[in-house]
Amino acid sequence: MRNAECGFFAECGFFADCGLIADCGFIADCGLNPNCGLNPNCGLNPNRGVNAESGREPIRNPQSAIHNQSAIRIPQSAMTTFDLVIVGYGNVARRFVSLLSEQRRTLAHDHGVAARVIATATRRHGYRYGGRKVEASSTLQFLGDALAKSRAAARKGRLVVVETTTLDVLRGQPATSHIRAALAGGAHVITANKGPVAFAYRSLTRAAARAGRQFLFEGAVMDGIPIFNLVRETLPAVTVAGFRGVVNSTTNFILTAMEQGQPFAAALAEMQARGIAEADPSLDVDGWDAAAKTAALANVLLDARITPHEVKRQGLTAETRQLAVAAMAAGRRLKLVARARREGRKVVASVGCEELPAADLLAGVEGHHNALVLETDLLEEIAIVQRGGGLTATAYALVSDLVTIARATAPPRRSARGRRSL
Ligand code: HSE
Repeated sequence: MRNAECGFFAECGFFADCGLIADCGFIADCGLNPNCGLNPNCGLNPNRGVNAESGREPIRNPQSAIHNQSAIRIPQSAMTTFDLVIVGYGNVARRFVSLLSEQRRTLAHDHGVAARVIATATRRHGYRYGGRKVEASSTLQFLGDALAKSRAAARKGRLVVVETTTLDVLRGQPATSHIRAALAGGAHVITANKGPVAFAYRSLTRAAARAGRQFLFEGAVMDGIPIFNLVRETLPAVTVAGFRGVVNSTTNFILTAMEQGQPFAAALAEMQARGIAEADPSLDVDGWDAAAKTAALANVLLDARITPHEVKRQGLTAETRQLAVAAMAAGRRLKLVARARREGRKVVASVGCEELPAADLLAGVEGHHNALVLETDLLEEIAIVQRGGGLTATAYALVSDLVTIARATAPPRRSARGRRSL
């Protein structure tokens, strides 16, 4: 596409024969021409909205038409049906399966994705493969058997292991071993478990690359909010120098309740009832969950090599209520803030309660909501706020990971004119 006739033509950028255009879109007089600026005849002129010659809105790629505000949908002719092996079939995984069913038509029509669950492993209900109960001495052994029986799907890149066991904050196990086994068996892996990213991001990423498979974990931090996708997909050549955020919903909900004079126990119980607190809620209260998320974010976004144990950590303590009330009275807010920054060749990370001025974006994050502020070199600060969250959002992250796999592994499609397209 970048030949002398098109590509990045010296005078224009997007010459008329460029192949990125249906009819015009980027003509020689276009706004992207450094010699042209915003020419009144230009298809990109914001005051005109349409191209003066063709009468059409400029289209960079006809297949990238936006059908609604929430997604770029690409009508698919080829379908990929993924076989799913779900390890840890708890609340998140069950919601993921029901969401797949609710979104079945959209996934198929717009993304060419279908999925069927072929195996599940749960601590309480045991192991199932192909709808039948099977025996295994451990989840790892069951997974090995399931992978061996699914070799054909693995070879075709259609096998996906969904890792949703609970967080182990000491070592990130056994989730990390499950993921290693899955990649070695030829499966892609999607996970909402922050442990593997917090403890073994680098080695798992290398294992995935060696296997030619995807290892995706969008649900590990901030539920369905696309924080990893945001940086990976939309910020090429931008360096993230640091971040700060409110990343644990349970403690933020408790802090907000305390400011309003409500008891700690009732607020925690509410988070447990909504399925947001960890199975062992001390992981939230003592800051471990936030530390694991901080390590995961730092490893991926800052290229750090840390675990939650290297994150300086202080959770909620006996003094927290008094501090939260005092901060509120002074027009400030107490928040459990996760931070990490590059300092020379090191990354320094912490989790702890901080009193923030009311004008700070993080100060306005109420209840179980989350927010993350990225410090970048080229775009200064970028903030992303989650006003919601919970099971559906985390399950959505797994769905979005599945679509990412389909996009990454789909054979290149050709447009009607025979050109390779997005
Ligand atoms: N226990 C976590 C929280 C759940 O409260 O934020 C989401 O990771």
